[in-house]
Amino acid sequence: KKHIITLLPGDGIGPEITNAMKRVVEATGVLIEWEEHLAGKAAMDKGGDPLPQEVMDSILRNKIALKGPLTTEVGKGFRSVNVQLRKTLNLYANLRPTKSVPSPNTRYMGLDIVVVRENTESLYAGIENEISPGVVQASKIITRDASIRIAKFAFEYARKHKRKKITAIHKANIMKLADGLFLACCREVAEKFPEVQYNEMIVDNCCMQLVMNPNQFDMLLLENLYGDIVSDLCAGLVGGLGVVPGANIGTEASVFEAVHGSAPDIAGKGIANPTAMIFSTALMLEHIGEKAAATKMVNAIYRVLGEGKTVTPDLKGLVAAYELKKKGLNAVVLE
Ligand code: NAI
Ligand code: MG
Repeated sequence: KKHIITLLPGDGIGPEITNAMKRVVEATGVLIEWEEHLAGKAAMDKGGDPLPQEVMDSILRNKIALKGPLTTEVGKGFRSVNVQLRKTLNLYANLRPTKSVPSPNTRYMGLDIVVVRENTESLYAGIENEISPGVVQASKIITRDASIRIAKFAFEYARKHKRKKITAIHKANIMKLADGLFLACCREVAEKFPEVQYNEMIVDNCCMQLVMNPNQFDMLLLENLYGDIVSDLCAGLVGGLGVVPGANIGTEASVFEAVHGSAPDIAGKGIANPTAMIFSTALMLEHIGEKAAATKMVNAIYRVLGEGKTVTPDLKGLVAAYELKKKGLNAVVLE
């Protein structure tokens, strides 16, 4: 069966890692027709809209998109295209399966933590006001509907993938109403899934526990702000931003993407790590029923990383990158 997928290569290292990804997908034999579009800075540089209507139409038609990182400039320019996509497509769940890869950059081997982040509200609802000069208020929005929906998503995922435990992360000791409501919703849903263990942890302690004793965690369930921060922390435990995939699951469509940004510091040098993009594509393949191809891809990457010969400098640490540079070499990307 042929699948039609919307593909946004994105900015910075996006096109490089997208090309590497395409070759890996091709090698699995799965039939995919990519509908490729510019978005973000790349689209604006060509004089267009950062999120052209034809891109939205393509995603809504195909229901699935694969996306490279998009550059969002701090404090100026257009609104984040990522946020716009999230809003328009109602991408309410951000899923990040975080698994250790074999590499010297990996702080803990054998970790396998699934992070589920609420993707639409909390402090990222975008409600900020200058109350008076020098005083700004940002509002944290927590709703029962969105909290129940994300908790259900997490517990259903746990049931389907035979995960054992979900830890809800909060700061309800301080934000008694907002985080209190989030927790109440998590508890309510947890009761309907007796086969999945459930516990709660305060977010600052969670960060410390993740660094000291991460094996205690199986799945994390978080509102938007904590989810953003803690999921990058998790990435740092298993090999870095270059190896962790992500999926944004929505009611109108789903968008798969690596969790890292456009990495302008290394763009165009041929040293970007395509692993996260390739793993995100594997998640997408699983989502569209191509599990065999997904497994093939993931296993191939594990083998290549395990051999340690053809990997990008971010996985070898600074010393190895320096060694390569001395020999006049950059890293080899999946030749
Ligand atoms: P970043 O993720 O682009 O880079 C952080 C560090 O990680 C850099 O040192 C970079 O070289 C390294 N890195 C990231 N991906 C890598 C890869 N695949 N291989 C090797 N090294 C990698 O985050 P930063 O610098 O905060 O943001 C840069 C731009 O990306 C900003 O405009 C930001 O808005 C955007 N961004 C976009 C995201 C998206 O489209 N989903 C997510 C995060 C940031
Ligand atoms: Mg983030």
